[in-house]
Amino acid sequence: MVKDGEPLVGGHKFVFVGGKGGVGKTVIAAALGFDATLQGKKVLLASLNPVHSLTSLFGQNLSGGRLVSIEGVKGLDAVEVEIEDIVRDYKTKMTGRLREFFRWAEVPINPDPFIEVATTNPAFHESAMFDRVMDLILEAGGNYDLVVFDTAAVANAVRLIGLSKLYGLWLARMIQSRREAQQYRLSLSFRKEKVQEEIKKDPVIADLISLHEKFTKTREIITNPKLTGFYFVTTPESLPISVVVRFIKMVEAFNIPVGGVFVNNVIDAADASSDPSGYLAAKVEEQRRYLTMIAEQMGDKVMGYVRSFPSEVRGVDALKAVIEDLRSYRPAI
Ligand SMILES: Nc1ncnc2c1ncn2[C@@H]1O[C@H](COP(=O)(O)OP(=O)(O)O)[C@@H](O)[C@H]1O
Ligand SMILES: [Mg+2]
Repeated sequence: MVKDGEPLVGGHKFVFVGGKGGVGKTVIAAALGFDATLQGKKVLLASLNPVHSLTSLFGQNLSGGRLVSIEGVKGLDAVEVEIEDIVRDYKTKMTGRLREFFRWAEVPINPDPFIEVATTNPAFHESAMFDRVMDLILEAGGNYDLVVFDTAAVANAVRLIGLSKLYGLWLARMIQSRREAQQYRLSLSFRKEKVQEEIKKDPVIADLISLHEKFTKTREIITNPKLTGFYFVTTPESLPISVVVRFIKMVEAFNIPVGGVFVNNVIDAADASSDPSGYLAAKVEEQRRYLTMIAEQMGDKVMGYVRSFPSEVRGVDALKAVIEDLRSYRPAI
């Protein structure tokens, strides 16, 4: 549980918020970011979802992939990352890389089919998104005290972080073989100065090295429990709980630190007593079972609870009510 005066996100600088669809990830991510601004922090809220909801949450147009200041909240910026745009940019970038690689290797074949395969495979979207996440971590990391990622695709993110280690090894190997090829080329060459000059400027090596550094730095940050936390949102319901249990196992298997769990949409017994139909009272009983299950399965990780409000969470005042609950509301279990 979070103490007064402490940030809800345990001092983490990079926060990922995951959970099943519709449980309140966007609401909780925004509340966590907003909470930090109330303590004087500079915060970036980044939505990585195919369908964005920060725009409707704040009633402000945030689309277009640019970082925008949230009106009326000092220190809060937001960005909705547009997957189509980043896939297009990433494709251009990768095409350039591959062309350069083939040109340098002096392979007398048409590189286009290779480029097509490399940029249309199913993992390409994920890689493009992860590339943007790395940029946000490494660049925005310098300008903000906290970056909150609202992400539906936790499984993808985690898998890519896990894969980044493998990818790093692969890149290291690529750099090595590129260097070997250069040496070979040099030893066969009659015009050694010219080749040496070209080797110094080899764009492929420079590119491989910078990519390798980017992966290494990102992985160091994401697996550092002092800097990064993966937070999960569940409701007192069966499926959302099993999703979070599965995510926690997955994240821990990749040595990625779990920051905590937030429980959303709790119906309070006091509210149920004013419902003559008995519907809410029955709901409260049902939820009690699931709240007990949450306490048993991940009790040490639960950071806060939020009640189910009579209407959707929109705007700054509604977010303040969410923060208030996260800090002080506890259901009777
Ligand atoms: N505690 C709550 N009380 C009432 N409505 C909520 C609460 N939490 C979330 N909502 C509403 O539920 C819907 C889904 O929430 P959202 O944060 O967009 O979920 P997710 O990002 O996990 O898909 C939104 O319309 C949101 O306003
Ligand atoms: Mg969402």
